[in-house]
Amino acid sequence: MPSSSIKVLVLHGPNLNMTGFRETDVYGKKPLEELDQEISKAAESLGVEVRILQSNSEGTLIDTIHEHRRWATAIVINPGGLTHYSIALRDALVSVRLPVIEVHLSNVHAREEFRRISVISPITIGQVVGFGGYGYVMALSAILNLDKEVV
Ligand code: DQA
Repeated sequence: MPSSSIKVLVLHGPNLNMTGFRETDVYGKKPLEELDQEISKAAESLGVEVRILQSNSEGTLIDTIHEHRRWATAIVINPGGLTHYSIALRDALVSVRLPVIEVHLSNVHAREEFRRISVISPITIGQVVGFGGYGYVMALSAILNLDKEVV
């Protein structure tokens, strides 16, 4: 598939709008708007179309996933705290039958015990953790390198 026809839905979950302000030692000092600009820039140079949304509402994230089932070729999602318990979000991701990559700004495996559990990761292609906003760029280029059978 030529990269020009790859369309990626990028989702940021609860509290990620506070990136750059909250726990900057963990999540970094760049505001989410800056991370989104970097994602858009990388997408443009990779020839990938992106739509980016942040929501603090589980329902809005789920609705957005459903609405993009025909538009998107893949989904990149940082589910925030929902990572650790939202079966509803996981079910939504499964329902659209699209490849999913999970991103976390921080290295969730090096933090509290409860952050090591992701109910999302078993249904993803893979996780990118601990690289801050660059993790989204890594996820986009990983999508371009997926086996043609997968995308
Ligand atoms: C996070 C990690 C989650 O455990 C946390 O609840 C977040 C951010 C991350 O990007 O590192 O909100 O998803």
